[in-house]
Amino acid sequence: MTEQTIESVSHENRIFPPPPEFAARARIGSREEYERLYRESIENPEAFWLARAAELTWAKPPTRAIHWNPPEARFFEDGELNVSVNCLDRHVEAGLGDRVAILWEGEPGEVRRVTYRELLEEVSRLANLLRSLGAKPGDRVGIYMGMVPEVAVAMLACARLGLVHTVIFGGFAADAIRDRLNDAGARFVITQDGAHRRGKILPLKPQVDQALTAVPSVEKVIVLERTRQPIDWVEGRDLAWHEHVGAQSSDAAPAIVSAEHPLFILYTSGTTGKPKGVLHTSAGYLLGTSLTARYVFDLRDDDIYWCTADVGWITGHSYIVYGPLSNAATVLMYEGAPNQPDEGRFWDIVQRHRVTILYTAPTAIRQFIRWGDEHPKKRDLSSLRLLGSVGEPINPEAWVWYHEVIGGGRCPIVDTWWQTETGAIMMSPLPGAIATKPGSCCVPFFGVVPKIVDERGHEVPAGSGGFLVIEQPWPSMLRTVYGDEKRFRESYFGAYPGRYFTGDGARRDEDGYFWVMGRVDDVVNVSGHRLGTAEIESSLVAHPDVAEAAVVGRPDELKGQALVAFVTLKEHAEPSPELAAKLSEHVANDIGRFARPEEIRFAPVLPKTRSGKIMRRILKSLADNRVPEGDVTTLEDPSVLNALLGK
Ligand code: WTA
Repeated sequence: MTEQTIESVSHENRIFPPPPEFAARARIGSREEYERLYRESIENPEAFWLARAAELTWAKPPTRAIHWNPPEARFFEDGELNVSVNCLDRHVEAGLGDRVAILWEGEPGEVRRVTYRELLEEVSRLANLLRSLGAKPGDRVGIYMGMVPEVAVAMLACARLGLVHTVIFGGFAADAIRDRLNDAGARFVITQDGAHRRGKILPLKPQVDQALTAVPSVEKVIVLERTRQPIDWVEGRDLAWHEHVGAQSSDAAPAIVSAEHPLFILYTSGTTGKPKGVLHTSAGYLLGTSLTARYVFDLRDDDIYWCTADVGWITGHSYIVYGPLSNAATVLMYEGAPNQPDEGRFWDIVQRHRVTILYTAPTAIRQFIRWGDEHPKKRDLSSLRLLGSVGEPINPEAWVWYHEVIGGGRCPIVDTWWQTETGAIMMSPLPGAIATKPGSCCVPFFGVVPKIVDERGHEVPAGSGGFLVIEQPWPSMLRTVYGDEKRFRESYFGAYPGRYFTGDGARRDEDGYFWVMGRVDDVVNVSGHRLGTAEIESSLVAHPDVAEAAVVGRPDELKGQALVAFVTLKEHAEPSPELAAKLSEHVANDIGRFARPEEIRFAPVLPKTRSGKIMRRILKSLADNRVPEGDVTTLEDPSVLNALLGK
């Protein structure tokens, strides 16, 4: 972090006020209203959050909102509830049982409409199966599935019993699954035979089988049939979903848990090789995702809301499952790739299902730009009324294209900044209230107090870059790193005691708008996937030919960032294109294909400081084919630089 100088480079100054027609019907329809609520939320957070919590369905309503002894946060701690009841039962009881909860489209083209009543029944059946297998509140359940309605069923069935789910993204390979299941100490795994992806079958169960050879805690595996290719079967351990879930009663009493009962663990990349198990708890997380889904996406009863994220990431947790379902929204879920059967698939889906809200990532938008305007232009996108962006800074060109070509110039764009750790959206325009600027996530959500500080923690003046910290607790914040409280304290509260450090660099402009510039630590963002360079480095170093490795991100037009690995070899090994390909494959097998370095550069040595720290700033310049600028006097051996530059 200390190596980083933060420079703010954006000079974007266009402003897009909320369209009057939109504002007139919006849940929050003016800047004044936003400001009034925001002020209330930070001046009297206790009263604000207690009043908001009354919107949830409680078994025992809380009498107080906030306990804050930094970094220890608890919300609504004497309240009791069940999260699945809030996402399902209360809507059915309110007469919305026939409303479609999940409107699903498979990659091969099938469409399923799962109503709130049907979802509740299937969740209850799976919960009954888990209960019959001896699952008890607090037990951990690994979920390794594709984008099918049953992944939401699995998550909600865990919530129904007070089990703690850990969803593992379907792109992860066996070793990554093994490490996560072991860290969580999972007793159960829910998976499927395979997923449809780009016209092929992506096998999932075989990865689980391989992982489970080294996960002693797992007792049972529930397997959904989706792709029907032959798979291995472990008698006594594996249970077929259709056989065992189908046989259960569709009525399952929910476990009433305390507000702070853990809801899930989601592993995310940090600056060491070991992924962090970010722990979220029940009521605060639910309230945070529910309120942001409602106000940021301005959800209405007749919306068809589509978030294109994978459920294996936080965006899928918060804005496919918990946020929208707690609002009784109709959520579109698509199984496959955006270019299957052709590059117009997304626009085809928008047209056929009359999608009204689309939430996607800048990397996808840049891909669409590259595929050409003819694909969206051939379709009727007039149903869209709101667009969203998440995952990385959106470049103003992509923003303007999204606005014009997809939104027809009429849809506001909500650029939402947040993180796995924050649980819910932290900064975003409210679409009926806040004028937007392309590339800015605009203003904080209720209860969020962001500050831009320098290395010593002093606030910097408007217009200057600095580190983004959050001053007050918020309901959906992570509570700890599972099994590693020390790491939680150090990673998030070590740099600025009492304040949450985001790991992002940002700037606040003269109008109070925030511009997030990206990570200042060793986390890179490849196609919206958050990757820790250290994780990839430890995979490389585990290869018998590799002595040392340093992985950095290089700006990439399409992916946001691309991974470049600098590798020094052991004596016996010789650099070659074949070895480079082998090393990439090695990372793919270890972690997953999405983590493969795009380029491997063999280097005789790596640039280090006298204390032995790799100077990543230098490698970042080299990776981007720039001559390193700035201070290189701290290099232990200055001639290294010439060697790396090929001089
Ligand atoms: C980046 C994804 C700029 C940021 C929800 C953050 C963004 C990291 C934005 C978290 C945005 C996310 N503008 N940067 N709108 N949204 N980021 O945990 O660097 O996968 O720290 O959560 O993505 O990634 P994560």
